[in-house]
Amino acid sequence: MRKLKLGVMISGGGTNLQALIDACASPDFPAEINVVVSNRPGAFGLERAQKAGIQSVCIDHTEFPDRETFEASIHDCLKKHNVELVCLAGFMRILNASFVGRWKDRMINVHPSLLPSYKGLHTHARAIEDGVRFGGCTIHFVRPEMDDGPIIMQAAVPIEPDDTEDSLAEKILAYEHVMYPAAVRLIAEGKVRVSGRKCAFKDVVIGKTGLISPPQP
Ligand code: GAR
Repeated sequence: MRKLKLGVMISGGGTNLQALIDACASPDFPAEINVVVSNRPGAFGLERAQKAGIQSVCIDHTEFPDRETFEASIHDCLKKHNVELVCLAGFMRILNASFVGRWKDRMINVHPSLLPSYKGLHTHARAIEDGVRFGGCTIHFVRPEMDDGPIIMQAAVPIEPDDTEDSLAEKILAYEHVMYPAAVRLIAEGKVRVSGRKCAFKDVVIGKTGLISPPQP
């Protein structure tokens, strides 16, 4: 089976990276991870990559004079490892438009909110503070604007009255781990493509079931 070659970019714990590592371990998964890039030397995700026998590279942003040279180094690394799809998985640096443009429609991100709501940081705390009934997460193609781009997949997660930032983050993360490999599979199998500002799907069933919170009998 032809496998899509992934480059996964991380900054921290790498639980989404782990979900991708686990998915790629299955022989019938249509993608493989060629390289993991972290901008932080201490990122636990680097250990996850090493344990799985995957090439990992630390490109520490603090060692570069500016964003351009930092991103050029990342770009060279991804090219060197023949990456076809870049997966941002908790990569917490803003990327310049020129870098994003070089990977247009070949770079995806996971964000822990129902985009376009709650872009940026502290999404869970802000959603709880606003009293919205649903939080969630989004996998999307990356555009130069932060947390923007054609949406591939979303999960809506009910926010319960006693949820804290941590409890909600934990619940939503579980959905991220299901969705990230699923979104990669859709791309690898040619079932999703960018059409203008949106994604268009082929041979994909989009559910019709809505959610009400609090639920009605
Ligand atoms: C995830 O919740 C991801 O959605 C978020 O960082 C976390 C990384 O966790 N990403 C963003 O906020 C990007 N805007 P992980 O390192 O355990 O995968």
